[in-house]
Amino acid sequence: MLDKNVVIAHRGASGYAPEHTFASYDKSHFDMHADYIELDVHMTLDGEIIVMHDESIERTALTPGIIKEMTLQEIKQLTIGKWFNEKYPELKSSYYEEQVVPTLKDIFERYGDANYYIETKSPDIYPGMEKLLIDTLNAFGLVSEARLQNRHSVIQSFSVESLIKVNQIKPNFPLLMLAKKGVLRNMSDDELRKIHEFVYAVGPSIADLDEALIERMHNIGFLLFPYTLNKEEDMERFINAGIDGAFTNYPDLLRKQFRLD
Ligand code: G3P
Ligand code: CA
Repeated sequence: MLDKNVVIAHRGASGYAPEHTFASYDKSHFDMHADYIELDVHMTLDGEIIVMHDESIERTALTPGIIKEMTLQEIKQLTIGKWFNEKYPELKSSYYEEQVVPTLKDIFERYGDANYYIETKSPDIYPGMEKLLIDTLNAFGLVSEARLQNRHSVIQSFSVESLIKVNQIKPNFPLLMLAKKGVLRNMSDDELRKIHEFVYAVGPSIADLDEALIERMHNIGFLLFPYTLNKEEDMERFINAGIDGAFTNYPDLLRKQFRLD
């Protein structure tokens, strides 16, 4: 059961290599042994789930375009590492410039029975995404009872509606509710207890995090995995404050802070 000192590689080891690419996921999974591969998913015009953070391709592909208006074939023409080399010249690699957008199936083919923390991004603009996501996980043998019980496949979202849809399709699917600054603080204990009936963990922004919030979430019964914990001094501080794990761009540093290496 992954419930203590959990290291979730945010967009892969995205502090070292371009996010949401094989380069970044190979580093986090094969080299740094993060517990989970974290990825954000969107749907193309022709209904393929692909792995990217933004609804637009512009930031990482350096050309305009909206994923839901593009076919998979169009998406597969893009390379998505040049921006990283330009922004981080000290980490630059020609290999990064060759990186292409993975589909969810590409990820499952490459990393097999790894642990996945999958975020439904902008689920309101992709009707049917939750069902397709679960069907795809299922096709790769990633929705077995053992995997769900041990939280080897997890779905996360800022959208409670999206989490409810997943719960309706597969009632015991492990779920995490992401929460922007202020969201958890503005919810009553009763509201949170209702959500805890089908959601095992919360993922608050570190901008919102303090000991009192961690204690309140634990008292309700949630595990707590904040995003995105990148600085070593923050890692140390929040580990001492009682977090159960975190999303990080630097899985190697978080493993060290948890004394796993
Ligand atoms: O999923 C945790 C964290 O990734 C949420 O923020 O914007 O990086 O997807 P974002
Ligand atoms: Ca995410």
